[in-house]
Amino acid sequence: QSSVLHKFKGVIFSTMSSEELLNSLDSFEAREDDVFLVSYPKSGTHWIAKVIENIPSARITLTPPIELGDISKFEELKTYCERRVIPTHLSYSMLPMNIKQKQCKIIYIVRNPKDIAVSFFHYYRDNPNLPSIETWHEFFELFLKGDVVYGSWFDHVLSWEEHKNAKNILIISYEEMKKDPSKNIKKITTFLGLNVTDSEINQIVWKTSFTEMKNNTAKENCDPNHTICALTSNRNLVFRKGAVGDWINYFTSKQKRVFDELFTEKMKHSELAKHFGD
Ligand code: PPS
Repeated sequence: QSSVLHKFKGVIFSTMSSEELLNSLDSFEAREDDVFLVSYPKSGTHWIAKVIENIPSARITLTPPIELGDISKFEELKTYCERRVIPTHLSYSMLPMNIKQKQCKIIYIVRNPKDIAVSFFHYYRDNPNLPSIETWHEFFELFLKGDVVYGSWFDHVLSWEEHKNAKNILIISYEEMKKDPSKNIKKITTFLGLNVTDSEINQIVWKTSFTEMKNNTAKENCDPNHTICALTSNRNLVFRKGAVGDWINYFTSKQKRVFDELFTEKMKHSELAKHFGD
């Protein structure tokens, strides 16, 4: 176990999430109009955040993740006057109680776990805030066992599975966003109760395309206090390839078989799994 990591309730966290903060998550006071952007890491959080930021009628402020920082975090979150969009990689069971009580709107982003594994591998390798990883093989084993920050992908998705039909929860899939961004942006605006014209949607599609977002990275704020990434403030580490199906360039046929077997076993009753391809 590296010194940059620690465990909380059996799940690995970076030390950028202090134990004290994690222990006091249930003291977080949600507002009824808060929007939570929830995902397992590398599922497309920055992308969907950018979509929401670009809705002209939104009047929102994107905050840093709820679990990033120390105990002063909740005081800081109180200072935002506009409607807050708060990202988090917490599983359902760890989500602060008050968010559930107030039935705040939640967007849960899903992505094919094979692509997540590859994206996460690169992120681990390039991010000085995470333990060093030498090879894809090494990372694959860790990912399979859930020995990575935020724990097992399976546990995360399954923790949200039973809440997928709640009226305050919208499921957005990375693959469906890629296939038809306009349709999914419309879903998001409708869910948030915001009006948007067709030409505004076209603008959002353009501004949030992978190329546009990657090219604008340098211009974005790299202040660690204003990051939506819980594990780095370096946005260059986030925009890598932005593609569906890159896993094929990494998984050996044996790894694919092992992963698919585990997937079939764990996800056999999952409807969320139907949102992304093979
Ligand atoms: S993080 O660090 O966990 O918050 O990362 P997250 O933003 O959830 O996911 C990063 C991956 O999303 C890709 N990405 C995009 N794909 C398509 N279009 C857009 N606009 C976009 N923005 C980010 C990013 O490149 C990461 O995936 P990979 O596969 O590594 O490229």
